[in-house]
Amino acid sequence: MGSGIAQVAATAGCEVLVFDTNQKALDRSREQLEKILSRLIEKEKIDQEKKQSIQNNIQYINELSGLKSSDLIIEAIIEDAAIKKTVFEGIEEYVSKDCIIASNTSSLSITSLAASLKYPERFIGIHFFNPAPLMKLVEVIPAIQTEAALTVKVKEIITSWEKDVVIAKDTPGFIVNKVARSFYGEAIRMYEEGLADQATIDWAMKELGGFKMGPFELMDFIGNDVNYTVTETVYKAFFYDPRFRPSFTQKRLAEAGYLGRKSGRGHYDYSEGAEMPEPNTDSVEGQKLLDRVLVMLINEAADTLHYHIATRDDIDTAMTKGVNYPKGLLKWADQIGIQTCVERMDALYFEYHEERYRCSPLLRKMAREQLKFYAE
Ligand SMILES: NC(=O)c1ccc[n+]([C@@H]2O[C@H](COP(=O)([O-])OP(=O)(O)OC[C@H]3O[C@@H](n4cnc5c(N)ncnc54)[C@H](O)[C@@H]3O)[C@@H](O)[C@H]2O)c1
Repeated sequence: MGSGIAQVAATAGCEVLVFDTNQKALDRSREQLEKILSRLIEKEKIDQEKKQSIQNNIQYINELSGLKSSDLIIEAIIEDAAIKKTVFEGIEEYVSKDCIIASNTSSLSITSLAASLKYPERFIGIHFFNPAPLMKLVEVIPAIQTEAALTVKVKEIITSWEKDVVIAKDTPGFIVNKVARSFYGEAIRMYEEGLADQATIDWAMKELGGFKMGPFELMDFIGNDVNYTVTETVYKAFFYDPRFRPSFTQKRLAEAGYLGRKSGRGHYDYSEGAEMPEPNTDSVEGQKLLDRVLVMLINEAADTLHYHIATRDDIDTAMTKGVNYPKGLLKWADQIGIQTCVERMDALYFEYHEERYRCSPLLRKMAREQLKFYAE
């Protein structure tokens, strides 16, 4: 992630220092950048001069003291709070009081990281998506200690790096990794209940819903180990809210080493000669599968707005730019009809009597008052 972020900043004209304690990681970063930029020349996306200027903008260092004149530091080291905190302490010994310090963490509390700093008001979350040069979205997450003006300033900087910036409250999973949980979780739940197989659910989400990848394909692409860990982390961080409960199906796949594409087997078999299962393409049944996952996604998006974790526009931008959903979920809710969304959630709740299926109070209120997320 660090290499990708460095490429983004250097492409935008910033002078970048890449710091890593591991010399091999630094060498790899330099070699990969050379390959990536050469490929961009082949594709005629950049010319030789631009490649040279990007490379000239980056220096690789392995001493923290080398960072002393930095204006902005984005930490993207191993996902371990204690190690990150030690590094922040080290950084603060060298940099000026005005230097902005940020973390690219996906799962740790920005507020708890900020608390380890001498000057926590200069600390903020800047969460890129992988691969950083290709993914347009960046979530900016102020800690409760962050100085208010810093959020505006960081948004300006990252926007000037040609990214779409959304602001999220410091909540587990921020926007994307919180709202997207149902895409996987509800799909697995339907599969576990025997409502359909993976190929059929993937087919329905893609063909009828317009999603680029089905949930099972996507889990296999991300890796069932990685995807399971994100779900478990969000679930625990939300004080075991059943809406985010992980599944045994995915846990067992991860335990078996059926990680997905990277191990040759996951929900699907990717070994040579293996045939992909055929979906049942009954569109009436398929629509029911799509409707159930979609309403769970919409419900989560509505709750994210209800609790002021992000604005309406930022929630829709996050899901279209961060995970390429075909439409913003709140816009989609308007099209389906808020009343219909409420009825679908209530039908699930009536069926299961699980809190997982409780309807967002915001949707219920909007249905009562006949409101839409977007004015006509
Ligand atoms: N991989 C993703 O898809 C992704 C997406 C968004 C955010 N993130 C976040 O970015 C961060 C990095 O993730 P990654 O997948 O690139 O990890 P990674 O393990 O690939 O890279 C981490 C790097 O940190 C270096 N490192 C470890 N300890 C260090 C120290 N004390 N000082 C300096 N460098 C040190 C390692 O040598 C390694 O090169 C994590 O916080 C993760 O949550 C990852």
